[in-house]
Amino acid sequence: MENVKRPKIVVRPPGPKAKKFIERDGKVMSQSLTRTSPLVGVDESGVWVKDIDGNIFMDLGSGIAVTNVGHKHPKVVEAIKRQSDKLIFLNSCDYFTLPQVELAERLCQVTPGNFEKRVFMGNSGAEAVEAALKIAQWHTRNFYVIGFIGGFHGRTMGSLQLTTTSVGARRHFKGMMQGVFHVPYAYCYRCPFKQEYPDCGMWCVNYIEEIMLKKVIPPDDLACMVVEPIQGAAGYIVPPDDYLPALAKLCKKNGIIFVDDEVQSGFCRTGKWFACEHSEVEPDIITVSKAIAGGLPCGAAIARKELMDWDPGAHENTLGGSPVVCEAALAVLDILKEEKLDKNAEQVGGFLLKRFREMAESHEIIGDVRGKGLMIGIEFVKDRRTKEYATEFRNKLLDEAFERGLMLLAAGPTSLRLAPPLVLTKEQAEVALEIFEESLKKVEKGSP
Ligand SMILES: Cc1ncc(COP(=O)(O)O)c(C=O)c1O
Repeated sequence: MENVKRPKIVVRPPGPKAKKFIERDGKVMSQSLTRTSPLVGVDESGVWVKDIDGNIFMDLGSGIAVTNVGHKHPKVVEAIKRQSDKLIFLNSCDYFTLPQVELAERLCQVTPGNFEKRVFMGNSGAEAVEAALKIAQWHTRNFYVIGFIGGFHGRTMGSLQLTTTSVGARRHFKGMMQGVFHVPYAYCYRCPFKQEYPDCGMWCVNYIEEIMLKKVIPPDDLACMVVEPIQGAAGYIVPPDDYLPALAKLCKKNGIIFVDDEVQSGFCRTGKWFACEHSEVEPDIITVSKAIAGGLPCGAAIARKELMDWDPGAHENTLGGSPVVCEAALAVLDILKEEKLDKNAEQVGGFLLKRFREMAESHEIIGDVRGKGLMIGIEFVKDRRTKEYATEFRNKLLDEAFERGLMLLAAGPTSLRLAPPLVLTKEQAEVALEIFEESLKKVEKGSP
């Protein structure tokens, strides 16, 4: 697929082979998986994914911000093969391995904060968040947590208590961990307090201090605050630049551990290695996953050394930080640096953001375009004044673009999230824009 310049649709997706396979899938796989598009992938390279019928798609989602270095990067493949020939597995709760320590050292270096840190490795974003929650509870002996409405932090019983993107993820589940207090996020396009930035004086932050900490939950009963620097699953909601520093300051003042969930925004996605670096915030704990190992399962919580003061046996797992995964992650860190993918995300992301904003001028259905680097959200509304959700339109657009060879992801009730591999070139971005607008016009024409 090296010479591919545009998506190539040889048979309208889902083609006959895909249809057959999806039928098989339906007979054995859990129905809880949502499945955005009927794509059965068999091969990949860079920004391209080939399906079982021979169609080639341009991936604008990276499997939700996972394939940051591009699909099947040769250096990741090489690292996996090299390590597989030596040592595939030794469990880190009982023994030591070289790649794990090397990865932990590198994670301490690349994450913000010029202080000593410690790393706990798991296999997913949710596990990274669980680790952060447990670190904070252990250290403070406190139980309560502040989370944010619209936040997504995973679906395991602990992390789910923080997740409030939709009730569908929470219905019927009563987690072991109770005691999360949710506060509104700085979603300025739909301000929950019906105010306007900057005249609001960031009331959403003051609200935490003036109302929550004075009337609802004493700060010294809190284990931590957990926040996404850009809300992901809620629709790539970018808060004002001074929001994260204001939250960090509030936490510091009140002795609250500040947990920055960079599972989706980390590893150069936003044009910086971590999104919190845009506002020079140094979190007490950072959670990472997704892009870290190029698609292999890995997650980590990186904390100030003094916070990870728990006893042996307080928290561990079997598969976390296994050698092949860590070697893949080390290759990812090298590639991000060598290929300057933070810069590419900034440049190509800036270009896309500008062009989508221009597109919004002639398409009323686009209510808001926002983003940082290659983390771009487009929100659709039936009416720009009332901001009524245009969910059906968004879904049709996603399907229309898919049929033309673009892989897009929905987020929140009425947004699309664009998170292409960070190797996306400007020329490829042009192709994406052209197909996107073509699809948009088609759906606009077809809509009542
Ligand atoms: C910010 C954030 N935290 C945590 C998670 C959970 O990660 P995982 O799906 O790997 O458990 C996600 C997943 O989308 C996420 O976006």
